[in-house]
Amino acid sequence: MDYQTLYRRSLDTPEEFWADCASDLEWIKPWEKVLDDSEPPYYEWFQGGEINTCFNALDRHCNEGRALQTALIYDSPVTGQVRKYSYAELRDEVAIFANVLQRNGVSKGDRVIIYMPMIPEAIISMLACARIGAIHSVVFGGFAAKELATRVTDANPKLVISASCGIEGKKVIAYLPLLDEALELAGAGGLTRILVSRPQLPIEELHPSAILWQDAVAAAHAVDCVPVAATDPLYILYTSGTTGEPKGVVRPNGGHAVALKWSMKHIYNVQPGDVYWAASDIGWVVGHSYIVYAPLLHGCTTILYEGKPVGTPDASAFWRVIEQHKVKCLFTAPTAFRAIRREDPKGELLKRHDISSLESLFLAGERCDPDTLHWAENQLGIPVIDHWWQTESGWPMAANPMGVEQLEVKAGSPTVAVPGYDIRVLDDEGMEVPRGQSGNIMVKLPLPPGNLPTLWGNRQRYFDAYLSRFEGYYLTGDAGVMDEEGYLWVMSRIDDVINVAGHRLSTGALEEALITNYNVAECAVIGVADKLKGEMPLGFVVLNSGSTVDESALRKDLMETVRSQVGPIATPRDIHIVARLPKTRSGKILRGTMQKIADGKQYKMPATIEDPGVLDEIATALGL
Ligand code: COA
Ligand code: AMP
Repeated sequence: MDYQTLYRRSLDTPEEFWADCASDLEWIKPWEKVLDDSEPPYYEWFQGGEINTCFNALDRHCNEGRALQTALIYDSPVTGQVRKYSYAELRDEVAIFANVLQRNGVSKGDRVIIYMPMIPEAIISMLACARIGAIHSVVFGGFAAKELATRVTDANPKLVISASCGIEGKKVIAYLPLLDEALELAGAGGLTRILVSRPQLPIEELHPSAILWQDAVAAAHAVDCVPVAATDPLYILYTSGTTGEPKGVVRPNGGHAVALKWSMKHIYNVQPGDVYWAASDIGWVVGHSYIVYAPLLHGCTTILYEGKPVGTPDASAFWRVIEQHKVKCLFTAPTAFRAIRREDPKGELLKRHDISSLESLFLAGERCDPDTLHWAENQLGIPVIDHWWQTESGWPMAANPMGVEQLEVKAGSPTVAVPGYDIRVLDDEGMEVPRGQSGNIMVKLPLPPGNLPTLWGNRQRYFDAYLSRFEGYYLTGDAGVMDEEGYLWVMSRIDDVINVAGHRLSTGALEEALITNYNVAECAVIGVADKLKGEMPLGFVVLNSGSTVDESALRKDLMETVRSQVGPIATPRDIHIVARLPKTRSGKILRGTMQKIADGKQYKMPATIEDPGVLDEIATALGL
């Protein structure tokens, strides 16, 4: 079936379409209703059905002849290890760790925080939660204690799983001081911790509430999968919104498994048994969906790569992994390719590797500039596919559906709406704009399976953030254009979210950190264009009157504050001390205009600006 026919079918008869896809999974109890639309604008898929995601990701394949096939390859250039797990081995380790969770009081519906580096125990922890119906919430290792604490407070977990350290290139990052600080900040200092002691930083003194992973596992036995409702949450993943307070995106078990399995064949064009590699981090949605769940649900071999695109040891790192493990499909962020290109512009290192197994490269997580896309195409000689999605969706919303029909690639566009997504571009009054004109990118409700049905413990915030802008539509937060041929062009965010090296950050969170300094009266953070990371934060602070602080010491202090409160991934490119911030007459800071000035773009003088002269002061501070 061609793309257009499949797409129309998904929108015209969604219940039939998704019921067909769902039959690719094993259900404990069939659903009563494919789509429960009794309470719009809230929708639930596969209502009444029971399933277990871990069973479908592991046990099912073992029962169907894949027990000895490699499920997971842990490839860690930073520790010099490659370790393989067959489906049977991974199932057994998960089944035993699931019992460890139970023995520590975790049962169906309980939350478990996972704050871990890219080691197999992280994936085992996620799947063990899924096995017993517990809800995991993975927190990216690059977040600092305060960010972790906010997530602990919101999720109110029964248990935390962590490790002694992460390894960032040559640096060993101690996790436990951050974890202890976060739990204290969250008022949960006595929470049980299960800890992996890594040889790079062995745990010498165990916290009174901590248990070593190795000891806990030795005392446990394998347990079976627990049935959960299709609509029960599999996980919560916090993501940045407009304010500094992260949003707990809820992922339901049933719809998620159905959509992810479908996407592997129809979007990524991979088959069970193929080697699929998402070079991301399990702390982000790409890691959840395409390192862990989708490849395993589809019976592929997945790769957990503990390294960087460059520096571990050099810009040939990806080529080595592809050659060694015969990777068929690679998924990463454009930043990774910009980093490789910067170190090896002519692709000399690539020539030393046989990457003939690689059939396609998928890029997402941030806007892909045509230059990087063309460079990758020229170097690799295979289709390079930009696709667009977000934490909230959990799987692609716009893509080139390679397993259905390979459409023409237009550099700068993530191609067309994926089946299930009725994407519309609306103006600020909620009217659909003609093709070719820009506006708010919205998805007409209902969203397809796998998308967030709510925010954790806060349906009102879900409604306010996503559903209230225009009745009957989901607000993606992105702005862009749909062209005459139905290609989507994603241009910018409409909120204060920025994207640094494919990492989604809230400028609000950075501002909250800056304002904690007693010299700072007010501040603004914007995202400015960056050649390597796509965007980087840039801070502006106004000092309290009479402040006599040394400016360069203050800048250093403020940088450190952001690193220690938000995390090193949020380190601003610079912080400028200015006399005033440009504002509207009602007091709103004109961040959009500041961003245009910093990026050297044309801007229209905002009609509501209080004092246009402040914009010149900003330009001067930037040396323009
Ligand atoms: N744990 C602890 N610290 C982390 C971390 C983690 N998981 N991830 C990043 N950091 C730290 C880094 O060590 C660095 O610290 P430093 O300022 O003390 O050196 C800081 O956060 C910034 O990291 P990063 O943004 O990754 O920049 P970098 O210069 O170290 O590396 C790239 C640049 C391009 C190689 C890197 O950003 C990259 O691999 N990008 C690919 C993006 C990606 O996979 N995104 C996932 C979404 S699909
Ligand atoms: P995250 O939730 O971290 O995956 O970030 C999602 C956001 O990243 C989207 O809302 C977009 O703003 C941006 N994004 C992701 N993929 C793309 C893409 N292919 N093109 C443009 N922007 C993208």
